[in-house]
Amino acid sequence: MADRKRIIAPSVLAADFADMGKAVRLADEAGADWIHLDIMDGSFVPPITFGAQMIRDIRKLTELPFDAHLMTLHPGSHLRSFRDAGVDRFTFHLEAEPHAHRLLGEVKSLGMKAGISIVPSTPVSALSEILDLVDQILIMTVNPGWGGQSLIPSTLNKIRQLAELRENGAGDYLIEMDGGFAPSTAGEIWGAGTDAAVMGSAFFGADHPLQAMNSCRGA
Ligand code: DX5
Ligand code: ZN
Repeated sequence: MADRKRIIAPSVLAADFADMGKAVRLADEAGADWIHLDIMDGSFVPPITFGAQMIRDIRKLTELPFDAHLMTLHPGSHLRSFRDAGVDRFTFHLEAEPHAHRLLGEVKSLGMKAGISIVPSTPVSALSEILDLVDQILIMTVNPGWGGQSLIPSTLNKIRQLAELRENGAGDYLIEMDGGFAPSTAGEIWGAGTDAAVMGSAFFGADHPLQAMNSCRGA
């Protein structure tokens, strides 16, 4: 069974890109469990963020697992470069990859944990054939592309469904949520069955990031 606790993964999307090293160290010192890397390609979602070169450069600053969230078309074309740059967990969007079954196998064969993500309009039922293959499922609780949005409450039903499916033996995956995690929403989010929460603006935008993280963890 996977290690299940309240994992918090600060997203450097919300950090100052001119000071990325400082952001990674801040997350590490605050007690983050993973570093969440939002990769956007300007096609699957409008913004463009960063790629393997930056990942390689920040890799030397922390031992924390790198949790890459690819909001890109053709995610498979980044597999090797991201693995070589130091990514530990590789999550791509079902909506961006017609051959998710095959790609999940390729991710694992390169030694990374394999994750799948779905946007708010995609139902959990779309994952039925791959539940037993994935190490983690990332439920987008906002529409992908931007940090700082409000949680879409109905998306928490998907987390409840995935927790129930897992309870019934459908797979052994971690359930991750992404978007709108904050001290005011954390209690409901953990309560739905979330194992891992991405924390962007509520961490890097906080006056006291460490306190914000602790408050979310204990909510
Ligand atoms: C959105 C990204 C998120 C984002 C979350 O497309 O996938 O990881 O950084 O940001 P917050 O926590 O500010 O909602
Ligand atoms: Zn993300």
